[in-house]
Amino acid sequence: MIGDKKIVFSGVQPSGNLTIGNYLGAIKNFSRFSEDYKTFYCVVDLHSITVRQVPAELRRRTYETLALYMACGLDEKKNTLFVQSHVPAHAELGWILDCYTMFGELSRMTQFKDKSQKHAENINAGLFTYPALMAADILLYQTDLVPVGIDQKQHLELARDVAARFNQIYGDTFTIPEGYIPTDTMKIASLAEPTSKMSKSDPNPNACVYILDSKDDIMRKFKKAVTDSDASVRYSEDKPGVSNLMTIYRAFTGKSLEEIEREFDGRGYGDFKLAVGEACADGLAPVREEFARLMADKAYLEQVMKNGADEAAYYARKTMSKVRRKIGFVN
Ligand code: TRP
Repeated sequence: MIGDKKIVFSGVQPSGNLTIGNYLGAIKNFSRFSEDYKTFYCVVDLHSITVRQVPAELRRRTYETLALYMACGLDEKKNTLFVQSHVPAHAELGWILDCYTMFGELSRMTQFKDKSQKHAENINAGLFTYPALMAADILLYQTDLVPVGIDQKQHLELARDVAARFNQIYGDTFTIPEGYIPTDTMKIASLAEPTSKMSKSDPNPNACVYILDSKDDIMRKFKKAVTDSDASVRYSEDKPGVSNLMTIYRAFTGKSLEEIEREFDGRGYGDFKLAVGEACADGLAPVREEFARLMADKAYLEQVMKNGADEAAYYARKTMSKVRRKIGFVN
């Protein structure tokens, strides 16, 4: 607890290419917590070097990720926004937790297995201990709640196990975090293959709409979206393409599915796709403008990073002095 508030922590990889799926399904969620919780949102650059990065790109994406989250509505005055490597306690607790995390546990992580297949030439120790660093991120702030996608569930469970193990050995040290894993939120599918999830790394350039796409790109992608031969705008399991477009249209306009069906009754898919494209482009326009404004003001972004890191470091220090004392390090 900080004051009378429970604590939320989440980490995001520095990648500027977020999709409307990330936007509607996750980022919009983040800002909801800031009223009732003390919130920490961290750009996890230490995690990102577990795969090879081009230095100039990593630096640019770190700014971009911060700017994009702010542009999507995360108010820097209501949320602690910071960069992981600016608070060295993450690396320090990461090492310590390495020593309380078992080889067998880490070997069972599906993300490690996937990534070591994908990057067979660079299966480094950091890739293997990635989940212990993630546990450190979370436990450093005595976090109560961790909003993450379903793909991070296994890592979160490991963080809970490591926290419990440490507490078992040394007495109460870490809060055991709960996951906040929305299963029923907006699931946005690929525009090219509507039975699979929209993914930012999809090789098909028309499958995926990025938050920062231009209006022209957005319109083109929606025009090419896969539908079916039935030509009626109706929400149904056997019409995944149309249903996905309806979900997107609903999210940007606030209209209900019934209203949408009525609006496009007797009109073809062409009209409908144009309307979805317009709604999406219009909905994202303010985000794009705010992003451009922030990216043009690096000094301000640096100020936000610095304030965030100062504040985060203050809370991290409290946990670290407790941890050091319990382990038996000389003060
Ligand atoms: N591993 C997370 C991801 O890839 C990012 C992350 C790092 C994270 N540290 C975290 C998420 C702490 C939540 C809490 O999405």
